[in-house]
Amino acid sequence: MPFVIRPAGIQSTMTKQLSILLLVCAVASVGAANPTLTIEAGNPVANVSPMLYGLMTEEINHSYDGGLYAELVRNRAFLDNPNSPVHWSVVPGKGSAATMALDPTQPLNDALPVSLRVEVSKASKRHPAGIANDGYWGIPVQPAAHYRASFYAKAAPGFSGSVIVSIQSNDGGTVYAKGKVAGLTPDWKQYEVTLETGKVKPTAQARYVLTLDRPGTVWFDLVSLFPPTWGDQPNGFRPDLLQMLVDLKPQFLRFPGGNYVEGDTIPTRFDWKKTIGPISQRPGHRCPWGYRSTDGMGLLEFLRWCEDMGAEPVLAVYAGYSLGGQHVNPGSDLEPYVQDALDEIEYVTGDTNTTWGAQRAKDGHPQPFPLQYVEIGNEDEFDRSGSYDARFAQFFDAIKVKHPQLKCISTVGTEQPESKRVHSRQPDVLDEHYYRPAHDFLNDSAHFDNYDRKGPEIFVGEWAAYDTSFPPWNGRSAKEPPTANMTAALGDATWMTAMERNSDVVKMQCYAPLLVNVSPGARQWRPNLIGYDALRCYGSPSYYAIKMFSRNVGDEILKASLDDATLHCSVTKDSRSGAILIKLVNPQPAPQPLQLDIQGVSGLKPTGTATTLAAAPDATNSIDNPTNVVPVTAEVSGVKPVFDYTLPANSITVLQLNVQ
Ligand code: AHR
Repeated sequence: MPFVIRPAGIQSTMTKQLSILLLVCAVASVGAANPTLTIEAGNPVANVSPMLYGLMTEEINHSYDGGLYAELVRNRAFLDNPNSPVHWSVVPGKGSAATMALDPTQPLNDALPVSLRVEVSKASKRHPAGIANDGYWGIPVQPAAHYRASFYAKAAPGFSGSVIVSIQSNDGGTVYAKGKVAGLTPDWKQYEVTLETGKVKPTAQARYVLTLDRPGTVWFDLVSLFPPTWGDQPNGFRPDLLQMLVDLKPQFLRFPGGNYVEGDTIPTRFDWKKTIGPISQRPGHRCPWGYRSTDGMGLLEFLRWCEDMGAEPVLAVYAGYSLGGQHVNPGSDLEPYVQDALDEIEYVTGDTNTTWGAQRAKDGHPQPFPLQYVEIGNEDEFDRSGSYDARFAQFFDAIKVKHPQLKCISTVGTEQPESKRVHSRQPDVLDEHYYRPAHDFLNDSAHFDNYDRKGPEIFVGEWAAYDTSFPPWNGRSAKEPPTANMTAALGDATWMTAMERNSDVVKMQCYAPLLVNVSPGARQWRPNLIGYDALRCYGSPSYYAIKMFSRNVGDEILKASLDDATLHCSVTKDSRSGAILIKLVNPQPAPQPLQLDIQGVSGLKPTGTATTLAAAPDATNSIDNPTNVVPVTAEVSGVKPVFDYTLPANSITVLQLNVQ
């Protein structure tokens, strides 16, 4: 008997197209020749890794500055360009005049060694003059919102006026929020003021303006503006983006890279000790993706981010190799870097009696963070010197002496030539990276089936499918979409079934890159998972595929066989609820009737649910059309141990069936 499907109303955004597809499924007749998925429900073959679904992150595509890290002022410490205060402009008005210049003779401190000198030669209360910042592709204005504005300033002797701070339209015609600071002195001091918007229409066509109401000379540094943040935390995160990440229920966060941990050069590596403490003490550094990072997103912020998501850190430590080809010789040269990694681990996990645990407490987080995995470097197969084996060994030995419980991840996996891998030690985990055309993932879905069950554990620390009509890497071109389409999502979902089926060996996996600012010139890579501009955000079809999988994990892998190589599946069970979770991918352009034969159960409840993501191969989401492709959850009835189900064309489905 064909099943009957009824929308359960869980997703209000169900598209007409999908309704039609589901209807087609509902009436499809199922013949004996249909492929069969046989599930041995009474026979779990292994446990699903509880850490299987996680996230990977680094500063790329303006993931933090201009992304998750909510700071709105760009070039807040005037260090982005040594020759010019980029992203700042002079705001003269009618009847006023001002100039601005970088001033290394008036540094705020050693970490922030340049300030901005603003000389106002003509100004009054009615005609103020000063400077404006254009933000990260605009300053987002939200209605009824509080903005925390702060800056360091000092004035030349004799100045007794005020600094007016405001969020204004780009032409200055509309002031969305305004505040005032008075009492500047000839010494550096931090000033803070709260700005509040009223009933305004959201826009990012705005700038942040600081003006003087009379002539004078004022130096500014660390000019900062934060909108409402996640949990109202100072120096915090953009709530809409963090919510999208929380919704993925990640079990871990791999950070800070990726290439970002390595840097192009040794001095531009992620030097974690320079990323903690007050932001006024963080010099920032050039990231390997062509721009400067403020390091406002420092080690403690990464850890807080994990905490906010209920995820565990997977900490990547700098291991003596940088992307430009520099490496540190193993032995005494490498010792300081090994010590840095040990200190970093202590900062994350040490109690407050330890040096770095005490520092963490001083920085505002007395409670240690959980940590099981430490990754030694990133993609060290690129190190042509062949030093990785010995560098890995030196880190591994030092970490194991102090923290025998920690698992050390080698960055060279079995997808790399044997000669590049670590041999002198047995890494606990191998990190493998797969960026492939979608059809490669479809063709290689048995990839992990024959991995040695005895280990080492596998961490697929970066993976993503791409549609070959939009090859990867060339993200600088504005013509190419920053996120991928349904073709890629079908490949991604297939790859996830492969990893989940083998999650006794594949212990963790995460898509990369995670975040992309889609504004012109902001990105360096494609495809990415989540896109945003100053005001809005959206998930790619792959985002929704991952969400469907990561929210329906189960804890036991069931033996399942599918007698049709064009379909892909993974079947798990939630032993607490008894639910059987069946993930199916039909990448074909036609609906596919399927017989499900669920063995080893006394009975199944007659209704279950189906969550389906189905769309034309080139269908996608974008900043202007964010929910074109979204999953739909519907009730499935007529469920019994042997029943028929038709997968829509180009679809990813999660069936949840309940044992009676
Ligand atoms: O995800 C983008 C980059 O791809 C990562 O930084 C690097 O590890 C890989 O080559």
